[in-house]
Amino acid sequence: MKIKLIVALVSVTAIIAFSAIAATTASQNKGAANMNLNGGRRGNVAFPHHQHQEKLGDCNICHSIFPQKAGSIAELQADGKLQKKYVMNKLCTKCHKELKKAGKKSGPTTCTKCHVKE
Ligand code: HEC
Ligand code: HEC
Ligand code: HEC
Repeated sequence: MKIKLIVALVSVTAIIAFSAIAATTASQNKGAANMNLNGGRRGNVAFPHHQHQEKLGDCNICHSIFPQKAGSIAELQADGKLQKKYVMNKLCTKCHKELKKAGKKSGPTTCTKCHVKE
């Protein structure tokens, strides 16, 4: 009798724990961990997406400019709603330069550190 009760309790606890994990994962789609962004003729740009999410803690730093959707930068550019190089100059490189100037840990600020030719 006692053992059956313990087994039942353990199962209930496991179900609750799993649903909680499922709920938090479903509430926010963090997208790909790493991305290969289209960098035009200079070559593509490897972008560690999750590393930035953890480091910056605010999705809107980037996603106020383009939505959380694969290909959204290219889509806005094609519609003439986002200038070419805007993301690079006003977001990526701007932040890296400011952090570097402030003596903080930062990302690349030179062309070939971001753009890699195949
Ligand atoms: C430093 C900039 C930056 C930050 C901060 C950022 N993202 Fe992104 N995110 C991007 C870029 C760049 C793309 C790719 C857009 C494209 O393909 O045109 C993207 C795409 C996405 C996508 C769609 C692509 C995929 O892999 O499914 C999702 C979902 C997403 N981000 C979620 C998030 C969430 C949630 C956060 C905050 C926890 C976040 N992002 C923070 C830059 C950022
Ligand atoms: C911090 C990373 C980073 C650095 C440093 C960087 N770029 Fe970029 N570059 C990007 C990203 C991301 C894109 C795509 C998004 C956009 O167009 O804003 C891009 C896009 C481009 C494009 C394509 C524009 C088009 O036609 O769509 C060119 C050309 C370019 N960069 C040249 C350069 C040159 C030249 C330098 C050095 C002075 C440089 N980049 C430095 C990240 C970087
Ligand atoms: C608001 C600030 C901010 C923005 C915007 C930002 N970054 Fe960064 N980036 C950082 C910081 C901080 C680091 C250093 C992270 C670390 O060392 O943990 C970094 C590091 C990097 C690295 C080096 C990763 C490594 O570990 O070697 C790359 C590549 C990079 N960023 C590319 C980009 C690109 C491409 C964009 C634009 C789509 C971008 N970043 C936008 C703050 C930013």
